[in-house]
Amino acid sequence: MEMLSWENVDHTILQKILLLFICISLFWKIIRYMCGLLYPETEPVTVLVTGAAGQIGYALVPMIARGVMLGPNQPVILHMLDIEPAADSLKGVKMELIDAAFPLLRGVVATTDVAEACKGVNIAVMVGGFPRKEGMERKDVMSKNVSIYKAQASALEQHAASDCKVLVVANPANTNALILKEFAPSIPEKNITCLTRLDHNRALGQISERLSVHVSDVKNVIIWGNHSSTQYPDVNHATINTSSGQKPVKELVADDNWLNTEFISTVQQRGAAIIKARKLSSALSAASAACDHIHDWVLGTPKGSWVSMGVYSDGSYGIQPGLIYSFPVTCEKGDWNIVQELKIDELCREKMDKTAEELIEEKTLAKSCLNSLPMFT
Ligand SMILES: NC(=O)c1ccc[n+]([C@@H]2O[C@H](COP(=O)([O-])OP(=O)(O)OC[C@H]3O[C@@H](n4cnc5c(N)ncnc54)[C@H](O)[C@@H]3O)[C@@H](O)[C@H]2O)c1
Repeated sequence: MEMLSWENVDHTILQKILLLFICISLFWKIIRYMCGLLYPETEPVTVLVTGAAGQIGYALVPMIARGVMLGPNQPVILHMLDIEPAADSLKGVKMELIDAAFPLLRGVVATTDVAEACKGVNIAVMVGGFPRKEGMERKDVMSKNVSIYKAQASALEQHAASDCKVLVVANPANTNALILKEFAPSIPEKNITCLTRLDHNRALGQISERLSVHVSDVKNVIIWGNHSSTQYPDVNHATINTSSGQKPVKELVADDNWLNTEFISTVQQRGAAIIKARKLSSALSAASAACDHIHDWVLGTPKGSWVSMGVYSDGSYGIQPGLIYSFPVTCEKGDWNIVQELKIDELCREKMDKTAEELIEEKTLAKSCLNSLPMFT
């Protein structure tokens, strides 16, 4: 019997197999290179969170790092700012972010230096601020926040990306956003907004509870005005997705008295109810709403639905231009637009004007804190 030896093996077949392997591996490398050209790795987005050592900050930063804010394929770099007394706590948050090994997190800066925090920022979520303490006058709180927001606006103006999108969460959110707009004139005014999405989500939640429907089937509620107890949660245009199509919320609730009284006051007073129950203000829902706000602003609202955002008034619905007022908006390609031509009934008009009046008063108060500055005319 002939022995199988190296000499007996047909060398040309071996050479052919080897050549085939080399060709396949070369071909695979070329395909991967071409795919890399077509789909380059997404550049990370730098997100600033101020007041990051606080309770909203602690709930918010892991959501951002997990892709809740900008989607599951968007890498992020987190910049976290807080004040000196919270520096150790901020360091601890950074350690926890590293320990959580978030795949999308490409860098973390934890600092008490506002210039460092604002450097190259694409999205700024302004949560830090001075809280109202027992016995403090409204004017004193406003005065503290005016100076914080003036300083942070200047830092964003100098160090952030020129197309930076800003969301102000800290209260008084609308007026803090207005101050920020005044002192960061090179950031487009359409890029400065405040959070009323929490109130919007609270309104969706109340309707969903009342009708025992899934919250994702409720849409197009509106929060008009200030993020305060004068806000007007409006369900006149809201609908429910049912097995027989879209139905108006008003028709399904079939209780205008509840909608015009208890529903409104529950949404307006929800923050206070949470403080009473938790002995702390809402944090996880505020963080989640901040993610929703930026998510929809950057990635768009679904066709046929809108959300509420505190934005710079252009005079729509007779609201004085120059206020940051919550309107219904649709978002597309990173831009928001106020939903126009909604029918406004008498009650709605009255409530929209009342919350606008409060914002005008807040603006006057802020102006008196900054009365040497000419832009508040
Ligand atoms: N718009 C909304 O829907 C909404 C909802 C809930 C809370 N809020 C507001 O959000 C803010 C934060 O709430 P919280 O519960 O996280 O408060 P918190 O007190 O737990 O945290 C605030 C953090 O801000 C920091 N801070 C203070 N001054 C700062 C400054 N100049 N620069 C940077 N950081 C600073 C504090 O050190 C603290 O860590 C409050 O103003 C609260 O009223 C708004």
